[in-house]
Amino acid sequence: MSNGFWDNLKKPVIGLAPMDGVTDPAFRYITAITSKPSVIFTEFVNVEGLARGATKMLYGFFYSKKERPIVAQLFGTEIDSFYKAAVLICYLGFDGIDINMGCPVNKIAGKGSGAALIKNPKLAKKIIKSVQKGINDFANGISLERAGVHEDVIAFCKKNKMILKKPEKKIIPLSVKTRIGYNEISAEEWAKTLIGFGVKILTMHGRTFKQLYSGEANWEVLGKVAKICKKNDVFFLGNGDISSMAEAKEKIKKYGCDGVLVGRATNGNPWFFKGKDPSLKDRLNAIKKHVKYFEKLAYLPFQTLKKHLAWYTKGFEGAKEMRMEFMQAQSGKDIERIVEEFSKRIK
Ligand SMILES: Cc1cc2nc3c(=O)[nH]c(=O)nc-3n(C[C@H](O)[C@H](O)[C@H](O)COP(=O)(O)O)c2cc1C
Repeated sequence: MSNGFWDNLKKPVIGLAPMDGVTDPAFRYITAITSKPSVIFTEFVNVEGLARGATKMLYGFFYSKKERPIVAQLFGTEIDSFYKAAVLICYLGFDGIDINMGCPVNKIAGKGSGAALIKNPKLAKKIIKSVQKGINDFANGISLERAGVHEDVIAFCKKNKMILKKPEKKIIPLSVKTRIGYNEISAEEWAKTLIGFGVKILTMHGRTFKQLYSGEANWEVLGKVAKICKKNDVFFLGNGDISSMAEAKEKIKKYGCDGVLVGRATNGNPWFFKGKDPSLKDRLNAIKKHVKYFEKLAYLPFQTLKKHLAWYTKGFEGAKEMRMEFMQAQSGKDIERIVEEFSKRIK
């Protein structure tokens, strides 16, 4: 079976990792037009919320064509809800669906989803099969209504023109993103288990659930998983602590991965995938574009933009003052004015 767009990606594959509260539509768009990662993942979206008609969550699924290939990520525990979400994602025209089996945050893993699935392979298997069934049923022509997608979700997607006019009835690839173990490292067994469940595209973050973000990502273990994946014809993406494009390429080569996903190093750095540092002018332009696009989407509170602005304003003379002014800003207009005044001062 084909792995969809994954088969056609130019190597080395260096993608933008999913980050809840960070890889929102505006940041993804700015990154896509600034430095074009090989692949982009959305923030994770909760399948149970979607199944109950929580339309607010759908904003995370706004995307522009420029972000393609784009993969929608899901988390949860309810098998039926995964099925409905999978059919919906196909109708929204995403290039792939990823299942989160790595989030260690208590409100996620504490409820049995995310990284908790590492110690519940029975449920992990049911979830994978259910998502695959949703993908297959879509390709066989099932409607959103027949798939049981909540009527409010359908209405919201129609109103916001999120559903493709003529969705191509094709099978999109399913992937899983996970960690190297729960309390202890069990990466090799866990990878084999997932492969046994039919997973053909796998991302592993080189830390266990228990580690959260402490210590260093264990790339030696990821290298062992890469070997298993190669043997089984599975596309493998390593993940954890990559700080530059040079390091990404070095890790891919050294550990035999098909690619990597990069998360935190892209904070305030939509240039990351270009592999060179931006000039101050680039930086100021990006801030303006980001704010403009954020306001055009007009769905998140203005406050949520501020973390991005704080990340942008680091490492140049006057950055601290600019950051402090941004924190007082109430609108995109305020931000634009601050940037303009700063630009005049440095001329
Ligand atoms: C703020 C934040 C939010 C995250 N949200 C998600 C998420 O929604 N889905 C997911 O699979 N991983 C999520 N992660 C994990 C990252 O995708 C990635 O695995 C992790 O940050 C390690 O990669 P890095 O060292 O390149 O950041 C998140 C990480 C951070 C820091």
